[in-house]
Amino acid sequence: MKILVTGGLGFIGSHTVVELQNKGFEVVIIDDCSNSNEDVLDGIERITGIRPLFVKLDLKERDKVEEFFKDYSDVEGVIHFAASKAVGESVEKPLLYYENNIGTLVYILKELSRKNNASFIFSSSCTVYGQADKMPITENAPVKEAESPYGNTKQMGEEIIRDTCKVTPNLNAIALRYFNPMGAHPSAEIGELPIGVPQNLVPFITQTGVGLREELSVFGDDYPTPDGTCIRDYIYVVDLAKAHVVALERLLEGKNKENYEVFNVGTGKGSSVLEVIKSFEKVSGKKLNYKIVGRRPGDITEAYADTTKANEVLGWKSQYSLDEAMKSAWVWEQKIRS
Ligand code: UD1
Repeated sequence: MKILVTGGLGFIGSHTVVELQNKGFEVVIIDDCSNSNEDVLDGIERITGIRPLFVKLDLKERDKVEEFFKDYSDVEGVIHFAASKAVGESVEKPLLYYENNIGTLVYILKELSRKNNASFIFSSSCTVYGQADKMPITENAPVKEAESPYGNTKQMGEEIIRDTCKVTPNLNAIALRYFNPMGAHPSAEIGELPIGVPQNLVPFITQTGVGLREELSVFGDDYPTPDGTCIRDYIYVVDLAKAHVVALERLLEGKNKENYEVFNVGTGKGSSVLEVIKSFEKVSGKKLNYKIVGRRPGDITEAYADTTKANEVLGWKSQYSLDEAMKSAWVWEQKIRS
């Protein structure tokens, strides 16, 4: 069965391609390589023994998207990762984000609407909850006004899919709301490759660990949490990748209750910034150079998932601990810098 993975050369996309191939799916990747590179195909091939099909294409080119779906009319499911994801940049360039993340989503949904039967998995984010009132966060928590155009593209993306599914019974979709993905494949053949200075905590830590960055700034220790630093739900990327496969199988096997469903994908456990640093120090045996600085604007105090729905309905549960995920991130970082 042929599955299209857009953004399949990216961090979460590439790990998902591996898990799909491990399950016997035939994968075709679309990627424009704007934030990734074709070497990732070699890593995937070394892990799975199979080189996925690859079409280099910018999804903003509507004609090319149409042509693709004509050429690959046997695609039965789409996992749609391709999107821009830098929060700060989205504030500077909102239209770029709406065009990249919303325009391309509309083109793909138009193509899928034409099919007799199509399954669609969307990369959403816990960012849609903003600072939720209650922890852990269930899928029923209200969606809060977005803090950035990036966050807004995730909220709007979900609404566009929901509205489309209402009038398109042949389209079945699931939005996965990721918490904080981290880590790398245990083989260290693929992993996270942030361009420039990492905005996210874990790559910043591992880059500091290898000496690429001088020190980590911890953004605030005066939050109302046990140690004063922010709490997040760090989910191992391989666990997250597997959640995509399970969600896709649910749709392909017609097990979904409604044709649009939403699931949180996290571990259910919150970790503070200082706990993440401790985890790094434990698995690497190194002291991390860090200092406490002021809060980062827009940061929320805490977010961790109630994963009951994913556990019970999808039958999916995260398997790896923070330390195991951190170890994989550290092995990967050392490998790419050696
Ligand atoms: C990230 C994304 C956000 C996404 C969310 C959930 C960014 C900038 N933000 O936010 O869009 O919706 O995950 O998927 O990509 N921290 C430091 N020092 C650093 C970097 C981070 O102390 O140098 C702290 C932050 O204050 C935060 C925690 O580490 O408390 C995690 O930060 P980050 O990795 O950026 O994730 P989120 O803020 O959760």
